[in-house]
Amino acid sequence: MLTPRQGILEILPYVPGKSSIEGKQESTKLSANESALGPSLKALLAFREAGNCLHLYPDGTSIELRQAIGLANGLNPDRIVCGAGSDELLYNLARGYAGPGDEILFGEHGFNVYPIVANCVGAKPVKVPENNLTFDVDATLARVNNKTRIVFIANPNNPTGSYIPKVELKRLRAGLREDILLVIDCAYAEFVTCPDYNIGFDLVDGAENTVVTRTFSKIYALASLRIGWAYCPPSITDVLNRLRAPFNLSTASQLAGKAAVEDVGHVAAARDHNTVWLPWLSDRLRECGLTVYPSAANFLLVRFPDDAAHNSQAAMAFFSSKGLILRETSIYGLPECLRVTIGREEAMKALEFSAKEFMAK
Ligand SMILES: Cc1ncc(COP(=O)(O)O)c(C=O)c1O
Repeated sequence: MLTPRQGILEILPYVPGKSSIEGKQESTKLSANESALGPSLKALLAFREAGNCLHLYPDGTSIELRQAIGLANGLNPDRIVCGAGSDELLYNLARGYAGPGDEILFGEHGFNVYPIVANCVGAKPVKVPENNLTFDVDATLARVNNKTRIVFIANPNNPTGSYIPKVELKRLRAGLREDILLVIDCAYAEFVTCPDYNIGFDLVDGAENTVVTRTFSKIYALASLRIGWAYCPPSITDVLNRLRAPFNLSTASQLAGKAAVEDVGHVAAARDHNTVWLPWLSDRLRECGLTVYPSAANFLLVRFPDDAAHNSQAAMAFFSSKGLILRETSIYGLPECLRVTIGREEAMKALEFSAKEFMAK
């Protein structure tokens, strides 16, 4: 009998946030941390342009996109690898550096792709306890053993919104053995305004064992085009280029991504929008009596009361009835919470209105 490799059937497939509500024609999706403002017009035009060359293979090296990313971030394009979403890079980092018998560490409420990629390569996913829903450097260092191969940290993390400051990130890297890969997943870095935050490019430059991953799915609002990138030391660039599919980014993705990264005004507008509406929504939900955790990203984790009329399930159903789609977080070990993305002004006001009504019931 044909059977898949051991462990494959134990992989729990990634469950994305809901994108529609049964029986409702119109709804507002606040469940996938997509950008409130949508993509840059310039990116949209570049995407349309790609329609002229559908018969041609894309540039397998994504050179123009890498050059644009390099220019925008002050990085050497030779050390950037593009992926079909940052997810592809996370998978390939696990394939490149871990296998059966190895352990991959991440925070207890860390992004759910980390356990999936660990299982995909036959490694053991290890959840490390967090402190106040925040990655715990000491607990992680204490859990390292001779089987540890990779530590994943999302900074800020999804779904908690928490981050660790630059000094803590540095302390984490310094405390890990040299043969352990540290993957700093900065999918939400563009939204962060906290002064003690740092992406960690200097940690990549400082050694051969640290990678930063980024995405075009969030602030650039190009989630459907699947564009991610990693900034790596030369040896890891080499490994990722061997592992990726030869034409992993379509021409449309490369052209739109380049236009998006060059449209700095649009990125600034998206960041400014978040800087206004993240605290606004947080305050309004707290005024309703809900617990809202501090967030450095473009979403909020909200804890609901225990009683059956006001718990997270009741809230999910209530918001759905109003056409608002939030994200359940049970899979992250947070069944009492829901995650909500910062959307447009109308959506934020509709959510405030519904939350008031729900909590007054
Ligand atoms: C922390 C984190 N990392 C990575 C990703 C994946 O992003 P991409 O769309 O680039 O694959 C997400 C998407 O939700 C995320 O929240």
